[in-house]
Amino acid sequence: MKMNKSLNFGMIALVGLTFACGGGETKTETVAEEVVAAPVKEMSLEEKYQNDPVYIKGLEKVKASDCLSCHMVARKIVGPSYAEVAAKYESTEENINMLAQKVINGGVGTWGEVPMPAHLSLSEEDAKDMVRYVLLLKK
Ligand code: HEC
Repeated sequence: MKMNKSLNFGMIALVGLTFACGGGETKTETVAEEVVAAPVKEMSLEEKYQNDPVYIKGLEKVKASDCLSCHMVARKIVGPSYAEVAAKYESTEENINMLAQKVINGGVGTWGEVPMPAHLSLSEEDAKDMVRYVLLLKK
């Protein structure tokens, strides 16, 4: 009788210990997975450039116009995605001028049969700030 009782106590203590260990291990594993997973997750272009002054200024002007009804950053809708446009052109003064003129006067044929309408009320400065923002969005 006496022996049995002390054996039971021993087993309870052992079970308690196993639980504590198991809990601790699980926690460590979770932390390790998070550390490994973080760099793998791809940052969106919006996240990547959100603090760039060219991004902030250009986005404000693009939002104030009708651009977003035909262009998205990462996906083609009516017009090419801004990421595609950024991949095609170096951000040089020459390209910025050429694309700003196209935004102002409209155009067709570079990306397909659908034309971009003219934006004749845009100033050259605003169109250039928009284009600088578009060409910033490189992966
Ligand atoms: C009604 C739809 C529409 C709107 C609104 C629109 N776009 Fe476009 N955009 C297009 C299409 C379609 C093309 C592709 C034209 C082509 O193939 O030459 C394009 C092309 C472009 C290009 C690439 C031009 C090239 O030659 O590679 C830029 C830059 C651009 N748009 C910026 C803008 C900006 C900035 C605005 C807002 C002021 C805007 N777009 C508004 C439809 C639109």
